[in-house]
Amino acid sequence: MPLAALAPDSGLVGLLYIVSFSLFIYGLRLGTHPTTARRGNGLAAVGMAIAVITTLLLQGIGNWGLIFAGILIGSIIGAVASKRVKMTEMPQMVALYNGLGGGAIALIAWSEYRHWVHIDKALSTSGEITSRQDLRELVEGSHLSIKVIPETFQIFGSVPLEVLIPTLFAMVVGSISFWGSNVAFGKLQELIPSQPMGLPGQKVINGLLLIGIIIGGVVLGVNNDLGDLSQPLFIAMLVAAAFLGVMVVLPIGGADMPVVISLLNAFTGLSAAAAGIALENTALIVGGTLVGSSGTILTLEMATAMNRSVANILFAGFGSPAGAGAGSQEERPHRSMTAQDAAIQLAYADSVVVVPGYGLAVAQAQHAVREMADELEKKGVSVGYAIHPVAGRMPGHMNVLLAEADVPYEQLKEMDEINPELPQTDVCVVIGANDVTNPAAKTDESSPIYGMPIIEADEAQQVLVLKRSMSPGFAGIDNDLFYHPKTSMVFGDAKQTVSDIVSELGEL
Ligand code: TAP
Repeated sequence: MPLAALAPDSGLVGLLYIVSFSLFIYGLRLGTHPTTARRGNGLAAVGMAIAVITTLLLQGIGNWGLIFAGILIGSIIGAVASKRVKMTEMPQMVALYNGLGGGAIALIAWSEYRHWVHIDKALSTSGEITSRQDLRELVEGSHLSIKVIPETFQIFGSVPLEVLIPTLFAMVVGSISFWGSNVAFGKLQELIPSQPMGLPGQKVINGLLLIGIIIGGVVLGVNNDLGDLSQPLFIAMLVAAAFLGVMVVLPIGGADMPVVISLLNAFTGLSAAAAGIALENTALIVGGTLVGSSGTILTLEMATAMNRSVANILFAGFGSPAGAGAGSQEERPHRSMTAQDAAIQLAYADSVVVVPGYGLAVAQAQHAVREMADELEKKGVSVGYAIHPVAGRMPGHMNVLLAEADVPYEQLKEMDEINPELPQTDVCVVIGANDVTNPAAKTDESSPIYGMPIIEADEAQQVLVLKRSMSPGFAGIDNDLFYHPKTSMVFGDAKQTVSDIVSELGEL
């Protein structure tokens, strides 16, 4: 195929890009349901492969050896990591990959900018040039191929604003996303303390950094004669954005990291879209916008599910010792029972609702839970699952886990659907869930989680709570449900306890 067929404005490139982002959009659509999510992911990956191959052929980039080495190393690391990572470690993996995306965009923006400042003086004699189109016309018929367009931008003597603004935006936001995501990764992986950490006057410092970045951008935009100073100023903005990324995420507690990661994910998408505008690359613009908008929607959904504003999540220092509810160490009377007694209670129920939480994921108890439901159904008990939108540590965490154990999707009920059914439920079994069932969210105005919608387990006739101790959950606050007269604690690792219940049920 002649390379001309792959010129940026050729029909074939446009067509291939349309195919690729149609696959992104269709893949996202399929991702909204667990039964089709895997196929959606595969289709989006095919779309990405088409976009990458098209771009590589289109750009005719020089060093194929380096490109293939990069693809090979990245593919090996990605494949091994995706096989090895535990479901509970998925948020930090997303943080790491998202950060790399933001870092790549920041470097692309820098490289694009460098094309401008390394001027080939000879080209400055080429007359009046005001747009990329002029450049293409200039290049046409000359010995220069389309791929050297970035270098020929030099002839402007200054970067046109239509390119400079998206380039600076991509650099700043990509850099914030890279550094912020790495701090989020460090907190979730416990490489750095997950508690909020901040300097005195942190907000003022952040404000000054932001103002400095904006002033730097304005200086670069209005001043054509910075000469050798323009690159150092660009690099200073890059470094300031890096500090801003670190400083904004450090004071946020580990509990809020999934929301922060989703927000930074949206940032990476926006920076990619901006880079796409600067590079006139449709696939980057569309792909980046999709990531930016879906990340924003997810961030807002998570904040709503916790009844908090995004600003509160970013600036309130939630999860600090001072923010944790009082009384978590207090000894209060509670009831406990053995797995054997729990099995008897369950076997004599008509309806059972399981509330899965983070502890179920840690214990990998999903298969045992499925076996328990099978045993109960054999005895004529109806079984359902109550899914809280922020149960676990990432959106859809519980749906993925239960789908892995082939729990029928119809049995999974969203919070709003299951709550009205709970008063008629004989036994609610809370497995490794804590905050998402805490009645303080409804009743205690002083609680940090006040207003968060919860699974109303306390409304069921009887409650069984399977966890290892009376320790608090992620929000660090005590749970009144555990001390309720209708609640019995069944202590132990969730997988072991549920397996014991399954054995007991088999003998009843
Ligand atoms: P948590 O409130 O974190 O409680 C999990 C409980 O599991 C703990 O109390 C722990 O008690 C127990 N546990 C841990 N390992 C266990 C094991 N091996 N066997 C049995 N139990 C075990 O979980 P949740 O109710 O799912 O709530 C999620 C929290 O994460 C909420 O605060 C939510 O706001 C936050 N969050 C979630 C998201 C998303 S998107 N999902 C995003 C941001 C924040 P023991 O130590 O006593 O066993």
